[in-house]
Amino acid sequence: MFASLAVYTLLALKVCTVSAFPAYKSLAGLTREALDAAVSSTTFVPPPSPPGPLADQSAKLVNDAAHPYQPLRPGDQRGPCPALNTLASHGYLPRNGVATPAQIVTAVQEGLNLENSFARFLTYSTFLVNGNPITNLMSIGDKTSGTGQDPPKPATVAGLDTHNNCEGDTSMTRADAFFGDNHSFNESRFQNFIKYSEKYGAGKYNYTVAAQLRKFLIQDSIQNNPQFSLVSPRLFTAFAESVFPINFFIDGRDTSGQLDLDVARSFFQNMTFPPNFFRRAGAVSNVGQNVVTDLLPNFKPGYNAHGVNTFTVDSTSATLTEPCLRYTNFVNKNIKQLYPNPTGVLKQALTINLQFLYEATVAANESCTQVFPYGH
Ligand code: HEM
Repeated sequence: MFASLAVYTLLALKVCTVSAFPAYKSLAGLTREALDAAVSSTTFVPPPSPPGPLADQSAKLVNDAAHPYQPLRPGDQRGPCPALNTLASHGYLPRNGVATPAQIVTAVQEGLNLENSFARFLTYSTFLVNGNPITNLMSIGDKTSGTGQDPPKPATVAGLDTHNNCEGDTSMTRADAFFGDNHSFNESRFQNFIKYSEKYGAGKYNYTVAAQLRKFLIQDSIQNNPQFSLVSPRLFTAFAESVFPINFFIDGRDTSGQLDLDVARSFFQNMTFPPNFFRRAGAVSNVGQNVVTDLLPNFKPGYNAHGVNTFTVDSTSATLTEPCLRYTNFVNKNIKQLYPNPTGVLKQALTINLQFLYEATVAANESCTQVFPYGH
C-alpha cells in the first residue's frame, strides 16, 4: 500500500559515530565544508519504521502500577500538549520529555488510543520542524541539549514550544505567544474554559462547548493580539485540539461525551491521569470536529496584518478542506525553510522522515501527490 521501499533501503544505512565535534553545540557560523563535515560526523541514528496500530484497542486501566505519576525533576521538559505532558509524567514517554517519534506514536496509542495514521501524521509533522533528524530525538517542551548537537541554522530543533511550527495562537489553556508564555498552563484561560462549559455544557466540556469556545478564542485573539495568526499548519491542530479533550480525556468506561472539569484540570494543569483512569475504547482521531467547523462555516485562515482588529485572509494558506495543499506547503515551505540545502546524513534522515510523513498522510485517506524537496 505504501511506497516504502526507498525507506527500508535507507534504513539499512550504518550508524556513523561522533569524532571531532563536541556534542550539543550549534553549528551556526561554520563554512559550508565545515558544516558538512560536522553534520556527517554527528551520531546518526537511522529512524526505525513507525509503529503500527495497537492489536488490542479495548478500554483498559492506563493509570496502572507500571505507570505511576512522578513529579518533574529539574531539567525535565513539558510543553503545550496536555496529552504528551501526562504521558511523560506517567512514564509512557521518557520522563525527561525527550523522545523519539516512534516512542511518541506508541505512547499516544497505548496511553490514550489515538488512531495510528493520525498519531503518525501529528508526530512526523511535528518532528520534522521541531526535532533533531540526526539523533532522532525531540523535546515535548523547550529547547534542550538532550536532543543532541543541532544541525546547521536555520534549523532550530527547539521542541514543541516553538511558535508557529505546530504550536500557535488560540489555545484553550495556553496564552498566545505575543503575551509571553505560549506553553504553560494559564489559569485565567482555564477559567474561561470553565465559563464556557458552564454556559453551553451544564458544567461539562462537550462538542457544543468546543465549538463555542473555539469561536470565542479566535475572536478574542483578533481583538487583543496584534500579531495574531491562524494559518496552516496551526489551523489544523487548533480545530482538532478543540475536540481532543472529549475524545481522549473522558474515562473509557464513560460514553456520555461530557468531560468533567476536574478531570480536564488533571490533564491540562497537573499532567496526570485521574485515579483509576481507563483509556477510551477503540482508536479514534478528530471525530466531532465537524461540530466545531459547522459553527464557523465562513472562517478562512488569516492573521492580523496591522495590529489588533485587522484580520486579513491569507489566500496562500491551505484551508481546512485542503489537506493536500497543507501537506505540500508544509513540506515545500515550512520544512524547506528550516533545511534549505541539507547534505549527507542530514539529507538522508530528512528524506526518511518525509517518507513517513507522506505515508501517514496517505493512510489518513488523503490521496495527495508526494513531493520530494530534496530529490528522489
Ligand atoms: C491522543 C493524543 C493527543 C491528545 C489528546 C492531545 C491533546 C492536545 C490538546 C487538547 C491540546 C490543546 C491545548 C490547549 O489548547 O490548551 C494540544 C496541544 C498540542 N499538542 Fe497535543 N494531543 C495529542 C497528541 C499530540 C501529538 C502526537 C503531538 C505531536 C507530537 C501533539 C502536539 C501538540 C502541540 C504542538 C500542541 C500545541 C498546540 C497549541 O498551540 O495549542 N499532540 N494537544
